[in-house]
Formats: sequence, C-alpha cells, structure tokens
Amino acid sequence: MSLLFSKTTLGSLTLQNHLVMSPLTRSRATGNIPNELMVEYYAQRGSAGLIITEGTSPSPNGLGYPRIPGIFSAEQIAGWKRITDAVHAKGAKMFIQFMHCGRIGHALNLPAGARMLAPSAVVAAGEMYTDAEGMKPHPTPQAMTEADIKTAIEEFAQAAKNAMAAGFDGVELHGANGYLLEQFIRPNSNQRTDRYGGSIENRARFVLEVADAVIKAIGKDKVGIRLSPFGVFNDMPLYDAMEADYTHLAQQLNALGLAYIHLVDHSPMGAPPVPDSIKQMFRNTFKGKLILAGGYDAARAESDLAAGECDLIAVGRPFLANPDLVARWENGAAVNAPDMSTFYTPGPKGYTDYPMLS
Ligand SMILES: Cc1cc2nc3c(=O)[nH]c(=O)nc-3n(C[C@H](O)[C@H](O)[C@H](O)COP(=O)(O)O)c2cc1C
Repeated sequence: MSLLFSKTTLGSLTLQNHLVMSPLTRSRATGNIPNELMVEYYAQRGSAGLIITEGTSPSPNGLGYPRIPGIFSAEQIAGWKRITDAVHAKGAKMFIQFMHCGRIGHALNLPAGARMLAPSAVVAAGEMYTDAEGMKPHPTPQAMTEADIKTAIEEFAQAAKNAMAAGFDGVELHGANGYLLEQFIRPNSNQRTDRYGGSIENRARFVLEVADAVIKAIGKDKVGIRLSPFGVFNDMPLYDAMEADYTHLAQQLNALGLAYIHLVDHSPMGAPPVPDSIKQMFRNTFKGKLILAGGYDAARAESDLAAGECDLIAVGRPFLANPDLVARWENGAAVNAPDMSTFYTPGPKGYTDYPMLS
C-alpha cells in the first residue's frame, strides 16, 4: 500500500494524493497577467493532490522579476479563474503563492509607479534579469515606512480575497528564499530600529501581521506559509540565532492556527543542509500539516511519509519536466529531465511540450 498515491486531507479539502506541485516561477505571464498558455500548463499537471502556483505578487511593488503574474487587478483575477477551473476539472486542489519580491528585483521589471520596497535600505548582493537590458545589479530598495507596512498588509489581505474570487482553494505566503517576508525575518536585511526590527519578536511581526490579516480575510484553514530556515538564496547569510528565531516563528504560526507550514530544504541544489533538528522542531511545535520539499524522488517521499516526518511532499523540477509525474512515479516509469535553459523563457518551449506517457 502506497501512502504517496492515497487520498488525504488539508483543512476541509480532500486531496487525491499526497503529492504537491511546488511553486515554480516560469515567467510566461506577459504583462503580469495569467494567460491561456498557463491554463494548459497547469491543467497538464492536474493529477497532483495540490498545485501551488508560481510566485504571484499581491502588489505592483512586488513584481521584481519579468513576466511573473499578479493577483491585484480584475484582469489577473479573471486569468487565474480560467486556470483554477481547468485544474479543478482534473481533480487537483490549488493554492496561490503570494510572492512579494521586496528588494529582489529591478525598476525595469516594475510597472509604472511601483516602488522597490524592503524592511531597510540594504541592497542585496547579486543581479536581476530584465527583459529591457539583461542582467543588472539589484538596486538599493526604499526602507518601508510604517504607512508602507500597513499598505502592504492590506494588499496581502485584498489579494487573498481576490484569490477566493479567482477560485483558489487557499493561499501560500512565500516566507522563504529571500523575498519580502524573509527579508523582515533575517537580521542582515532587516536593520530597523522600530517595532518591526531588532529582536526576533519584532523581526517576526510583519510576517505574523500579514498572516493574521490574510486569515481574517479568508479563514485560517485556507492559509499556509513556506519557510526556508538555513536557506541562503538571495543574499541571506547564515547567523547564530537562526534555530532560535525559527522556533519562535513556529510557535507563533502554530498559535495563529495556519493550515500548513511548507519547509524548503535546498541542499539538493547546493544550499547548506537544513538540520534534522529544525525539521523535528517544526513537526513537534506546529500542530497543522507539515509539507517537506527539496530533492524528493518517489522512494524518499514514501519513506518520509511512512516515518511520519511530514504530511505531504512537494516536488518541483520533476513536475516541471513531467506533467504526468503521478502516473510515472506510480508505475515506476522513466522520467523526463528538466531543461534549465527554458525555465524562464517566454512561450511554450520547455513549458507545455514535455512529453507525456501515451
Ligand atoms: C524554475 C524554478 C522556479 C522556482 N520558483 C519558485 C517560486 O516561485 N516560489 C518558491 O517558493 N520556490 C520556487 N522554486 C523552488 C522550488 O519550489 C523547489 O523548492 C525546488 O525546486 C526544490 O525542489 P525540487 O528538488 O523538487 O525541484 C523554484 C525552483 C525552480 C527550479
């Protein structure tokens, strides 16, 4: 009996299996609006238990990358509705990942009038791709005022209501991988001296206020969060109090009663390993569902589920390259390899043309 391919629940939802499609930015949303090509891509992967969308911005200010979608305009809501309808017809449930890029971005990627905001005016090391001028160094972001913080929280709450209008089953807050929420958590990017900076109680405040506002908008059983303790992507260096800080977060998120925490371990992609102790801490502290992600194949997924280490397994690159991943893994069939050169390029190549089993 396989756990991986058996039904399970998430809040009030029944999932057709324990496999989650990880959030994958694919940069096909020309004009930041979901389109028919994206309908086809997501529908092809509708045999997953749960699909989490690519990072989607709740605000014009959060559109740091080229061609990533938003969920703040009527056109975007209508575009996403076509996608949720097509995915639901295939049996999967669907959460939308709210990714506000914060300081990771470039003015050339932002719509007119948008601003690059961050907890502090601290530039991230590294470069950002722009369609207009290729690679550019990250610019120095503007430090958010208290009014900017209040506005951002309201944008997240409104985006959650928009997500419901677009037919999503829930929302995942992107608190991982160096974007705005993690920029508040980490001391290198958050050098504020007000109640949003300094102690971990203060550095966690923005994330918890966003989560609280989104919960009030749509209900706690429809809200999850992705976190990357020990993640270093996007200029987020390791520091001594990391484990203690994430313990505080786990306790507070448990008190809020979110549906799930989704932990990223990018060591298979060359990042520092996430200590087992921190995964155990989350498992013991957080009473909702736990999703683990990073480098899973079918055998490791089955064994972690069977050992009770988590409730669901999220898979990224294998789903990217295998629309029918569930059938392939269930039948022990060979899998397609992902083509990195088309991860973020516009158009169907490397997006909707991965072969399926006939
Ligand atoms: C092309 C690509 C785009 C990604 N975009 C996102 C994203 O938008 N949001 C996010 O949380 N993680 C993103 N990730 C990370 C994946 O969700 C996942 O955690 C990572 O690929 C490791 O899992 P895997 O070994 O199953 O691929 C991305 C990864 C890849 C390869």
